Amino acid sequence: KTVSIVGCPFSGGQLGVDKGPIHLVDAGLAQQLTDLGWNVLFDGHHQFEEISTETDPPIGKMKNPRLVSNVTEAVAKVVGDHARKGQLPLTLGGDHSLAMGTIAGTLSQHPNACVIWVDAHADLNTPETTDSGNIHGMPLSFLLSLASSADLKYTSASEPTPFAWLDNVHLPPSRLAYIGLRDVDPGEKALLRKHDIAAFSMHEVDRYGIGQVVEMALDRVNPARDRPVHLSFDVDALDPTVAPSTGTPVRGGLTFREGHYICERLFETGLIAAFDLMEVNPSLRDPASVKQTVAVGCSLVRAALGETLL
Ligand code: ARG
Ligand code: MN
Ligand code: MN
Ligand code: MN
Repeated sequence: KTVSIVGCPFSGGQLGVDKGPIHLVDAGLAQQLTDLGWNVLFDGHHQFEEISTETDPPIGKMKNPRLVSNVTEAVAKVVGDHARKGQLPLTLGGDHSLAMGTIAGTLSQHPNACVIWVDAHADLNTPETTDSGNIHGMPLSFLLSLASSADLKYTSASEPTPFAWLDNVHLPPSRLAYIGLRDVDPGEKALLRKHDIAAFSMHEVDRYGIGQVVEMALDRVNPARDRPVHLSFDVDALDPTVAPSTGTPVRGGLTFREGHYICERLFETGLIAAFDLMEVNPSLRDPASVKQTVAVGCSLVRAALGETLL
């Protein structure tokens, strides 16, 4: 069993490099996975082209569309290549727009995969519904084909429309389940209802407990437990007291154990085909908070790759 670490120090939402993946690797993540019995491949962090805001003005409300489109397309190729070689792609972010790339990469090798998205946010805004214009709040609208490059109303003779590469990537809405939601925009709530997407908010975690919620989520997207699972984990799903160093913290989140339980249980199913750990942002807090968040991030990855308590 081989895991390929894809380090993506990228923050196209804000411009300015996000050092999360560098901290996670520097904390010894590769050795920790080796100690768990994995063959670990890591050949340095992904290098991203620089596209300045002057040459990448907003399209509609969308900020840095060309940069994010190019970077996520490259990430899709890298993740898809690792998956084709039978390796488990472990992508470290960086902002959650990267999931456009990671999930497209997974689907290129496993067209029947489902996605478990652990997050405080739904990241389902379209270029029309977004308030912030930050693309990390939009990856799923493109992946579910609720948005497409045609919505950008962009015409250029010399360059393709940003995100045109995603137009023939399609994750059916019936194969997405959320856990941990608590900050969902009105337009996103409407889309969740309209497409009957499996969404387990913190309310459901309180009501049923995390053990039940994970089974309920799998029953919706993977009833026969035969589909590969892409687990996309935004560290802001955890309560800010547990993972403070992240760009958009929301109180009332998952406990340390609830977050780990999700990873442990999905590892037990043997179905994990790819894992993303996103939105670790060490630039935002004091050193102690950064250290705590990086340690929790490493520990979530270990849990998803088979570390057990006994
Ligand atoms: N819903 C807000 C937006 O669209 C926040 C999204 C936060 N997303 C994230 N990946 N942290 O801007
Ligand atoms: Mn997110
Ligand atoms: Mn989030
Ligand atoms: Mn699409």
